[in-house]
Amino acid sequence: MQTHIETIQKEFEEDFKNCFSSATLESLKIKYLGKKGPIQDLMKGLKEASGEDRPKLGKSINDLKVSIEAKLTELGRSLIAREEQQKLLAEKIDETLPGKKRFQGRKHPVNGTLDEIINILIAMGFTVEQGPDIDTDYYNFEVLNFPPEHPARDMQDTFYINKEVLLRTHTSNIQARVMESQKPPIRIIAPGKCFRNEAVTSRSHVFFHQVEAVYIDKNVSFSDLMGTLTDFMQKLFYKDIKVRFWPNYFPFVEPGLQVDIHCLNCKGSGCTLCKHTGWLEVAGAGMIHPEVLKNGGIDPEEYSGFAWGLGIERLVMLKNGIKDIRLFTENDIRFLNQFSAI
Ligand code: DAH
Repeated sequence: MQTHIETIQKEFEEDFKNCFSSATLESLKIKYLGKKGPIQDLMKGLKEASGEDRPKLGKSINDLKVSIEAKLTELGRSLIAREEQQKLLAEKIDETLPGKKRFQGRKHPVNGTLDEIINILIAMGFTVEQGPDIDTDYYNFEVLNFPPEHPARDMQDTFYINKEVLLRTHTSNIQARVMESQKPPIRIIAPGKCFRNEAVTSRSHVFFHQVEAVYIDKNVSFSDLMGTLTDFMQKLFYKDIKVRFWPNYFPFVEPGLQVDIHCLNCKGSGCTLCKHTGWLEVAGAGMIHPEVLKNGGIDPEEYSGFAWGLGIERLVMLKNGIKDIRLFTENDIRFLNQFSAI
């Protein structure tokens, strides 16, 4: 039996010398240490050995088993390390290949301009408030001096959800809300989405954005309104841009105004963008109507205020020469990619 043990050992040494991969190593493990392997056979054969030889033979078998296990484990470690290194070498990167261009996300042009406007107004002392997109007839119309059946409601075609609830048609729905929740001096802006039940064309859409501004304090005057708006327009466009105010009717302001700026394209000399008038209409504004102040719980004898509403899509279109408002909602990456990542 001792010679048999030695033969197995020699055979193993031979196999071991020729083992160069972890796959061969696995098969050696099975061949020598597996259930049907020679070590198991030797163990079984031990029963037949004479009583006095048994301990010695048992030890030899065990020594052989332990040394095979140790050798295979050791070789296994170095084979794995070597194979990993070979894999890494094979994976070598060719740094002369041209790089892949990564797509960089950008702000939507409407959001970019909204952020710009908000930052200017915050620097001028306004804080940002948010009003609901789905609102009641009361806040969108009634409190703003549009009684039921008032013809001025026709100025804003409305999506009604039911008799009382609607999609807000303008950000002016914030006005009475801030009057109810804050005491003057009130100096807020409210950016947000608006909805109107209009035919979608290149110039009008059912969905657009506005920024509302409201300032209420003692002695707020018409010249404060004109001065603040002019300052704002000059910060948003360029330093000396001319701003013009016209009378216009909105039920919640008295007097009400239309605000124009010098054409961004021709600076006033006349071109197709401004239809040869030299001016572009950009906002509605006015002194807050005493009834609206009263509705908001503010005494019009003590306080006065101004408000304005600015359409964002129109501004972005004018600034960038965009001819179709529908482009803003089409998610066409070729269009959106043209705006800088601000
Ligand atoms: N809410 C008006 C609209 O969407 C715009 C507007 C006009 C807002 C005059 C105002 C304002 O705050 O004073 O047509």
